[in-house]
Amino acid sequence: MSFYDVIISRRSIRQFKAEHIPREDLERMINAARLAPSAANLQPLEFVVVENKKICEKIFPCLKWAAYIAPEGNPKIGQEPTAYIIVLVNNEIRDKGFEWDSGAGVENILLTAWEKGIGSCWLISVDKKRVRTILNIPRHLKIDSVIALGYPAEKPLVKEYLDSVKYWKDKSLQFYVPKRKLRDILHFNSFK
Ligand SMILES: Cc1cc2nc3c(=O)[nH]c(=O)nc-3n(C[C@H](O)[C@H](O)[C@H](O)COP(=O)(O)O)c2cc1C
Repeated sequence: MSFYDVIISRRSIRQFKAEHIPREDLERMINAARLAPSAANLQPLEFVVVENKKICEKIFPCLKWAAYIAPEGNPKIGQEPTAYIIVLVNNEIRDKGFEWDSGAGVENILLTAWEKGIGSCWLISVDKKRVRTILNIPRHLKIDSVIALGYPAEKPLVKEYLDSVKYWKDKSLQFYVPKRKLRDILHFNSFK
């Protein structure tokens, strides 16, 4: 796949195969985040990678999936993520205005994963208090978000946006994601 194809074919995945992700692939994802752009090059992001099955089982109930269609978008039993990346912001380095950094870092992770055929879902609907306790995360590290990872057991399709941004599933459980048209968001030279 070309780099552009990696970008445009990435979709949020919420059904996964029960297959372990190699540690080197997880390390590669964090390395890609490490080298992402960072405002004032402050680099406030840190990460906890969870790939131990028992700890994954504890993280799973802390997450909310696909709010527009809940509970239809939840991973089915046996199709839960096989790893998680907990995205942390070191508040001793930066305590506000870090969202651009986390956006850039997380996108690098999602694309590095997808290049290897690893599906992901970036989640902010997270019971952060519970995650903090489970993983013993110290107070000066804010939990920004969680990235769920695993080999995909579904293939969401992009549909042209008509009148709603709400994704949906049809009777065969095919997942569709509406995206706005290029001509509606692109303005060359001046706003028309
Ligand atoms: C900042 C952010 C937070 C998100 N939080 C959640 C979440 O809590 N749960 C979830 O299932 N998906 C979450 N998503 C995934 C979006 O629902 C998904 O990106 C969107 O529907 C577009 O689909 P696509 O990623 O396949 O292009 C989040 C995405 C972003 C960018």
